[in-house]
Amino acid sequence: MKSKMSLFITFEGGEGCGKSTQARLLYRRITKLAIPALLTYEPGGTDLGKRIKHLVKYSRITIDPLAETMLFNASRAQLIEDIIKPALEKGTVVICDRYTDSTTAYQGHGHGLDLSIVKTVNSMAAQGVVPDLTVLLDVPVEIGLERKKKIKPDRFQTQSWDFHKGVRAGFLKLAKAEPKRWLVIDATQNQETIAGIIWQRVSKLLPG
Ligand code: TMP
Repeated sequence: MKSKMSLFITFEGGEGCGKSTQARLLYRRITKLAIPALLTYEPGGTDLGKRIKHLVKYSRITIDPLAETMLFNASRAQLIEDIIKPALEKGTVVICDRYTDSTTAYQGHGHGLDLSIVKTVNSMAAQGVVPDLTVLLDVPVEIGLERKKKIKPDRFQTQSWDFHKGVRAGFLKLAKAEPKRWLVIDATQNQETIAGIIWQRVSKLLPG
């Protein structure tokens, strides 16, 4: 279980939304205040996670949405056990680039896997570790994919337009259902403006 002083922040969004940049900027800003913080990511963050990341993002084998859900959650379970839970118990601020909501948006709303199955598998892996704040960087599909054009496309970026539209709609639906946990930001704005909006919210939640 999380300690009272801990803070767990996740970043979510579709392809090319800029969440990894914003997660890094926030991490730097918090550590500058000498507040213990940790930045990690999904899929990845552990040795097992890195292998799963490679498999789900770059392999050419067929992976069914249910199997994909299990793989992302295997990576998640290891990350929670090895990294996230111990850090939160110490009172460290944990920032995670993607978490359970990505599985709901991508495998549930994108691939159409039954949402109750996604919810069950997600909660088995998460073991009650729920974010205090989730930042959604919302960007139109065409702008996000355009931003990613220069790097080698992975299995997700090459999915159909409808898949990506489903993912975006899925994130927005999740945010609407839990407005207290989510901070939705128009990610077409410039980096500094976005970082400022995130800081306004996070600074109020920081210990001390
Ligand atoms: P990223 O490193 O660009 O965030 O790539 C991770 C990819 O994996 C991204 O396309 C989203 C996808 N993904 C899922 O489909 N489900 C998940 O549960 C997670 C964590 C990521």
